[in-house]
Amino acid sequence: MKSMQQRVAMITGGNSGIGFAISAKLASSGFHVILASRNQQKSADAIQQINRLVPGASMESIPLDLASFDSIRKCVDIFHSRQYPLHLLINHAGGLFPGKQASFTRDGFEMTFGTNHLGHFLLTNLLLSDLKRSAPSRVITVSSRLHIPGYGYGPRPNFDYENLKAEKYYNDMVFYKNSKLANIWFAYELNRQLNGSRVTSNAVCPGFVPESIAEKQKSRLSRWFYREFMARMPFARSADEAASSVLFVATDPRYETVGGKFIVDQKEINFSPESYDLEKAQQLWDASVQWCQLSERQ
Ligand SMILES: NC(=O)c1ccc[n+]([C@@H]2O[C@H](COP(=O)([O-])OP(=O)(O)OC[C@H]3O[C@@H](n4cnc5c(N)ncnc54)[C@H](OP(=O)(O)O)[C@@H]3O)[C@@H](O)[C@H]2O)c1
Repeated sequence: MKSMQQRVAMITGGNSGIGFAISAKLASSGFHVILASRNQQKSADAIQQINRLVPGASMESIPLDLASFDSIRKCVDIFHSRQYPLHLLINHAGGLFPGKQASFTRDGFEMTFGTNHLGHFLLTNLLLSDLKRSAPSRVITVSSRLHIPGYGYGPRPNFDYENLKAEKYYNDMVFYKNSKLANIWFAYELNRQLNGSRVTSNAVCPGFVPESIAEKQKSRLSRWFYREFMARMPFARSADEAASSVLFVATDPRYETVGGKFIVDQKEINFSPESYDLEKAQQLWDASVQWCQLSERQ
């Protein structure tokens, strides 16, 4: 491991939207920031832009497609070839993949679950020894309050192993909420497994960020609705505010030793009994190990 003056952070999906704002804040807090993202041109542009905002920012990018196990393994190989320590991993990429039909990752998993949960599960596990060697270190998984039954709009989460690949039905919002519940189970179970290692694992909700949702809208009217109308709602957050919520968990001294929390607006919340179900978290962990073939080849 190279000796580095700076603390090293890797963030997935850090080249646009909320992720861009988090990356800029990490750089200005003195981290060497690695953008692990699909689009290398977007990452190069983001690095250039952050350098203008934060003179002397220390950043680089590594290609990563979370919808491909092969790409995740290549990303980790490149990271290892650089011989850096790793003090902070932010599992931020992903989101809701809108549509009436399910789409699938390279390895045949439903895209929302495959990207938001499984991709980050594999990435984190492949980086665990780096995090442990660099301790004290932290893993932050970006989830959403939408995993809480009855919170927000639309149908409730319904995590069903027999419908993980949309065998029975597909609803983009249900699959999104399920993946965000999986993020929480993963963050808590990881924290239990890291007990005594001086690596903590927490989950964060960045808040409802209309400016980021607006970017993905096809119609001009929808973009206007999110940018001009929803952004003025008292419960809305700007990308900058959302990034501050994530940075808080990345830098507050409390979370150097405290893990297993779900943090929203810098407060720990606990509203979903299902998210604390130890057996369900362990079941998902064990299944994810099999799906990612982690037991056979690390
Ligand atoms: N926006 C909200 O109101 C809100 C609320 C609660 C939680 N969140 C959470 O915040 C995070 C970001 O949401 P967002 O609204 O900022 O979404 P976004 O603007 O769509 O950003 C998503 C990021 O994920 C990346 N990504 C998507 N698929 C990927 C893949 N297969 N491999 C690597 N990167 C991939 C995208 O990269 P590309 O540029 O390559 O597409 C992009 O950088 C998500 O975890 C979401 O669940 C958002």
